[in-house]
Amino acid sequence: MEPHPSAEASRALSRPVTSNQVALHPRLDELVRRHLATPFRKPPAPYSVAAFEAIARRREGRSLVLDSACGTGESSARLARRHPQALVVGIDQSAERLERGQRKLQAAWPPNLVLLRADVGDVWALMAQAGWRLAEHHLLYPNPWPKAEHVMRRWGSHPRLPALLALGGRIELRSNWIVYAQEFARALHLAGRTATLDEPSPAELADPVSPFERKYRDAGHTLWRVTAPEAQAGNTPVER
Ligand SMILES: C[S@@+](CC[C@H](N)C(=O)[O-])C[C@H]1O[C@@H](n2cnc3c(N)ncnc32)[C@H](O)[C@@H]1O
Repeated sequence: MEPHPSAEASRALSRPVTSNQVALHPRLDELVRRHLATPFRKPPAPYSVAAFEAIARRREGRSLVLDSACGTGESSARLARRHPQALVVGIDQSAERLERGQRKLQAAWPPNLVLLRADVGDVWALMAQAGWRLAEHHLLYPNPWPKAEHVMRRWGSHPRLPALLALGGRIELRSNWIVYAQEFARALHLAGRTATLDEPSPAELADPVSPFERKYRDAGHTLWRVTAPEAQAGNTPVER
């Protein structure tokens, strides 16, 4: 195992998110409604199609747990150990992070774990097109994109939001930026999903779910969690 940085080093490396946006983006509702009403037609990148096909080959009728933007896949391995009957898929676009995680896991690799390089939005779209449903979907510490003008890069207001929603499943997102978590919860609400925003308890944070959770916890950040229970199939988006 690589040594984890000391709490002091983490604090120096990890500053809380600062942004020119301190509350929900003023265009959030409009963007979410537009995405829910308008299909996003960008074709998936070839490497994402290859990843989707690899998952299809490995699935073998098992339920699916997805760890989107999994970084090194440490959180995915943890999920795989917790759900031995499911196929757990960790996806990240960074080959460097995935390779680092693969080197660390080696002999401890759970047999039901797949780590793949892809764009997660593309994979959501391909899974949604194929009519797949997830058992669980984890989105742990996505890049915050804190500048207001980057709002559409955040998952709550991303053009791929409808694909994410189409996959159903229990959703859990964690962030060290409250605005990100609030926006994601609001987007789920606009789509007719029940969502709860809270803080993981100190007891939960004693055993961090991912490397970024460990880093932010050690740096003293407040951490936020949005959870949405599994949606019923055919749940139609509603506006409130
Ligand atoms: C802050 S890190 C969090 C990693 C991990 N989930 C954790 O909690 O330790 C964000 C990760 O998102 C990945 N990422 C960002 N956009 C992505 C995308 N569209 N598709 C796949 N991975 C993406 C980055 O490569 C990076 O590994």
